[in-house]
Amino acid sequence: MEVNTIRFERFKPLADEACQERILAARKALGARAVVLGHHYQRADVYRHADLTGDSLRLSKLAAQTQSEYIVFCGVHFMAEVADILSKPSQTVILPDLNAGCSMADMANLAKVERAWRELGEVLEPDQAVTPITYINSAADLKAFCGEHGGIVCTSTNARQILQWAFGRREKVLFFPDQHLGRWTGYLMDIPLAEMLVWDPDEPMGGLTAQQIKMAKVLLWKGHCSVHQMFQAQHILRWRQEHPSGMVISHPECNFEVCKLSDYVGSTDFIIKTVAASAPGMRWLVGTELNLVNRIAEEYKPQGKVVQFMAPTVCMCSTMQRIDPQHLAWSLENLVAGKVVNQIKVPAREAELARVALDRMLAVS
Ligand code: 13P
Ligand code: SF4
Repeated sequence: MEVNTIRFERFKPLADEACQERILAARKALGARAVVLGHHYQRADVYRHADLTGDSLRLSKLAAQTQSEYIVFCGVHFMAEVADILSKPSQTVILPDLNAGCSMADMANLAKVERAWRELGEVLEPDQAVTPITYINSAADLKAFCGEHGGIVCTSTNARQILQWAFGRREKVLFFPDQHLGRWTGYLMDIPLAEMLVWDPDEPMGGLTAQQIKMAKVLLWKGHCSVHQMFQAQHILRWRQEHPSGMVISHPECNFEVCKLSDYVGSTDFIIKTVAASAPGMRWLVGTELNLVNRIAEEYKPQGKVVQFMAPTVCMCSTMQRIDPQHLAWSLENLVAGKVVNQIKVPAREAELARVALDRMLAVS
């Protein structure tokens, strides 16, 4: 008998607490058929339901390993796409709210990247001279573009290894969509800032001259994360005056000055592990999304560690927040009823090419 999809409208008015019971009941009914993956930026009342958690690199590896029929991804759209590409054809990936996108990922699209590639072709032979690298925070068709053009994917954890891989093959890199991760990684590899130029996709030839394109080693797409751009050098300088023995740790999506002033820079996993391994009583200033900072602040309070958020304003990733208990309960109860809602399915040809770029990354890292 055909079952009807349970409509989200029935879950909208539910209180967060009421959803908790329903999520637990649905999880119990599904058993091992469903696995819930959760990114570190998920809100606490969703994160607690995740079987497996991690940064983007870890989650992509976990998605490739899990055996469950359903992978319910509490994260954002590009992460669910990666899970679909790397999982088995028999597995189904679900993003509880399709509005959970990533504003940085939206700063690059295939039409603009293809135009950049054509424009680069007026000055050099891009397929011989330039390796396209897409940060994992990007749509699947951009990963496919990289797969097709000898390029690769990177995450905040492996960006340095990936850039090294790229320079072992071609003399230049086109890095999209996050200029900050690209610049910071190039800086760590001793590439002079003058040889890392911003490519503005809304300007002809990226706003650069032929001469500039010829001399550049890294072309940095003019994109950024709206959450991490809130952290500023002055926040660190002011805090250090009050807490001279404290430590500062930031995500590499922060701007160059913030990364330079930080004691440590790394992915969300790296931030968690570094704070966890620090001495009891240590004071930290953390430049990344608020849900994660709040979680580690609570977790390490019993050890006397003080974990503080870098910006004076609230900086949550509003798209990660779209995954709320109501959407999680709704998608799980539909699975219990035999209905798949919000499936993420990357078209076959695109998935095949994107997988080439992802497999290159997984082989390198
Ligand atoms: P991580 O890979 O470090 O978890 O970063 C993902 C992200 O979107 C950070 O804004
Ligand atoms: Fe995207 Fe920034 Fe949110 Fe990360 S924090 S998912 S880069 S918008």
